[in-house]
Amino acid sequence: LKLTDAYIINSKNRKENDFYPTAPVATQSLIENCNIPKTIWEPCAGKGHISKELIRNGFDVFSSDLFSYNDSLISNIKTDYDFQTCDLPDVEGVITNPPFKSNLPQKLIERCLDKYSFIAIFCRLTFMESGRRYNLFKNNPPSKILVFSERVNCDEKLFYPKEKQIGGMVAYAWFIWDKNLNETNKIDWIKPSDYLNKLEN
Ligand SMILES: C[S@@+](CC[C@H](N)C(=O)[O-])C[C@H]1O[C@@H](n2cnc3c(N)ncnc32)[C@H](O)[C@@H]1O
Repeated sequence: LKLTDAYIINSKNRKENDFYPTAPVATQSLIENCNIPKTIWEPCAGKGHISKELIRNGFDVFSSDLFSYNDSLISNIKTDYDFQTCDLPDVEGVITNPPFKSNLPQKLIERCLDKYSFIAIFCRLTFMESGRRYNLFKNNPPSKILVFSERVNCDEKLFYPKEKQIGGMVAYAWFIWDKNLNETNKIDWIKPSDYLNKLEN
């Protein structure tokens, strides 16, 4: 699927395809606070904002997305690849910021839980509530939830200078399922401003 303009605002004021790129400092915060396996699938890669940070930090990333974007940050993003129906790639972990609509984050997590030893989903903090996610969290509780104590911006116009990445309107967290951790439902708090110095200028 080719999009002429990924920024069209639809009638509900959601950007088409739910394209909200992840602030680089959010990925850096994950890297600093988890033991991420070497091989990763980014199944909703968009323009590659998460993938680029992971690659820069030495991880091997297979990036895919249902849609294609003109000005991607990395090459080799496989497009027309729907995470709901595709074959699951043979890697160790999944890291992404999926679309929030239609409960897609839950659908992705449930598709991936058996196969992967590590799943990290960047999502609104409110993902942890709601009746339809009760069974997910009760039956498959995450190992940990990393709450952003400072809100991050998911708008690429606010990524540089890098200090602008902090100060957003929406509270986010990383929801992490890590089979190498002997814990569930641990909540921790992270301060992304601690990691700005690890980013490129
Ligand atoms: C919130 S954006 C995040 C983009 C990227 N992960 C990042 O963090 O910068 C969600 C992405 O999911 C993609 N997407 C939507 N539905 C999808 C599907 N069924 N399978 C794969 N990707 C999908 C959109 O094209 C968009 O790039």
